[in-house]
Amino acid sequence: FSSGLLSGLDVVITAGPTREAIDPVRYISNHSSGKMGYALAQACAEAGARTRLISGPTRLSCPANVERIDVVSAQDMLEAALACKADIFIGAAAVADYRPETIAAQKIKKQGSDSASTTLTLVQNPDIIATIAAGTHKPFMVGFAAETENIVDYARNKLIKKRLDLVIANDVSRHDIGFNSDDNAVTLISAASEEYLEPRSKYQLALELVRRIAIAYR
Ligand code: C5P
Repeated sequence: FSSGLLSGLDVVITAGPTREAIDPVRYISNHSSGKMGYALAQACAEAGARTRLISGPTRLSCPANVERIDVVSAQDMLEAALACKADIFIGAAAVADYRPETIAAQKIKKQGSDSASTTLTLVQNPDIIATIAAGTHKPFMVGFAAETENIVDYARNKLIKKRLDLVIANDVSRHDIGFNSDDNAVTLISAASEEYLEPRSKYQLALELVRRIAIAYR
């Protein structure tokens, strides 16, 4: 692993979950730990890139030589991403697909009997990676795809639809790897190729992915 692999380049990485507020004390979110995005940020910084990590709420500490920008919601994450110039953009965040249409100003109170029900209207969040890819100074775009079947086909559709250069596809039906695990195995997909990378620690995988991203970028 060459420490000068990404020197002189700006890398922006999104990581972790987003939180979509319902009221002042409640939110909708997901189980993303942020580990893969943080490992990629560490590897990019070690490869010499100016590395910015736009992070939703996680329990992780910021890797050395990485500038962390803390955000909460998908809309915050998009604003932070639009404000960063990037040569390479890696979308590793598990962005909530929907958010409550309105955020109640006060804590929502329980109504009536135990059998009462209520509804929450959700609206779609912007697609951060697709928005960045559609911009004027399009960075080299790397996205993730979490799938349970037809992994390569679905990931390749994502590559085309979101205008990405590389997609890192995860098989989330396997419990030994992925989401909250310390290990991961992925298939790396470009318009012309696909390659399976065997299970290993997220940090070792990040080193391998950064090596391949650097080659594809040049
Ligand atoms: O469409 P799907 O959520 O499966 O796509 C996953 C990829 O898109 C990931 O790279 C993720 O970070 C990115 N994404 C995003 N904004 C969204 C949803 C997903 O940047 N609102």
